[in-house]
Amino acid sequence: MSKINAAITGIHGWVPDYILTNEELSTMVDTNDEWIMTRTGVKERHILKGEGQGTSVIGANAVKGLLEKTKTSPQEIDLVICATVTPDMLFPTTSNIISEKVGIKNAFCFDMNAACSGFLYALETGRRYIESGQYSKVVVVGADKMSSITDYTDRTTCILFGDAGGAVLLEPTTEDIGIIDSKMYSDGIGIPHLYQKAGGSNYPPTAETVAAREHFIYQEGQAVFKFAVTKMADVSVEIMERNNLKSEDISWLVPHQANMRIIEATARRMGLEKEKVMINIERYGNTTNGTIPMCLYEWGPKLKKGDNIVLSAFGGGFTWGSIYLKWAVDGDSK
Ligand code: UT7
Repeated sequence: MSKINAAITGIHGWVPDYILTNEELSTMVDTNDEWIMTRTGVKERHILKGEGQGTSVIGANAVKGLLEKTKTSPQEIDLVICATVTPDMLFPTTSNIISEKVGIKNAFCFDMNAACSGFLYALETGRRYIESGQYSKVVVVGADKMSSITDYTDRTTCILFGDAGGAVLLEPTTEDIGIIDSKMYSDGIGIPHLYQKAGGSNYPPTAETVAAREHFIYQEGQAVFKFAVTKMADVSVEIMERNNLKSEDISWLVPHQANMRIIEATARRMGLEKEKVMINIERYGNTTNGTIPMCLYEWGPKLKKGDNIVLSAFGGGFTWGSIYLKWAVDGDSK
């Protein structure tokens, strides 16, 4: 029997309407467009506003568009995995809430949290369910409402993050396309450098944790930068070498969008010119689990069957990894 590969057969993304510009941020904290652009490459980010609007709104919009685009009935979906660090609630899972919102009733579902590498971890997991031969339609969502955990009085973090998400449909194929290889890592050395301290079982919410602003992202930017810039490039080169890929064989690099300088360093180590790198950090900032699916969504119409694509991410924990895939369809859906 020929090997079953997991192929992405559709991609859809969604961002809220409200745009928070560098100009507006510079009225909120002591910063300016020039500093933010030079150090990060972010110009603006989208923010989900309004009461009762959690990450599931982003995820459900992405999944709804995906099902329409791929002409898939919600009842056909076997599994939904949602990668997020900003779940609507600690439980039930955001995948559960998204499934309810879009009418998925025959699937099991779970959330995955690997900080900014979550979408890749979830894709790697969804891939294995397809490869088992027992599941034929798996939805992998990456979505975050980072504005819900961003401290808009902290100029070192509030300039970075935005809200967005995307979803892909994974289906089996016996062709030599789809997800070919992956390499994932984690190392707890990163724990003190990037976290949201309170709200979990270790520091449950109290008046004190709220007053100390411990429900927001805490990041030691330089320490994270040092690791990110090395590890994201290392793993991207490793996946190339494992698969005998030369720079010229690669059609696209899809990097997590945390900082333009990290993206450029990764592309440089891989020997790729900028034209082959999907970059939209300028318009969205770091949307954590939303970055990679949003890039695939925006570049989707340009993609061709057989394109060699490397996805790479780095995030809190630390977590990092790369996936090598051959694009399975012409454009963004079958
Ligand atoms: O996605 C998950 C993984 N996360 C990452 O990969 C993020 C990695 N880290 C970074 O991207 C960068 O470290 C940051 C963009 C967060 C910060 O850039 P940096 O070049 O490391 O700046 P820095 O923290 O070393 O700060 C340099 C200076 C400081 O001033 P002094 O001490 O030199 O006087 C900061 O106080 O810039 C100051 N600064 C700012 N100035 C204007 C920090 N934030 C701002 C700001 N506007 N928003």
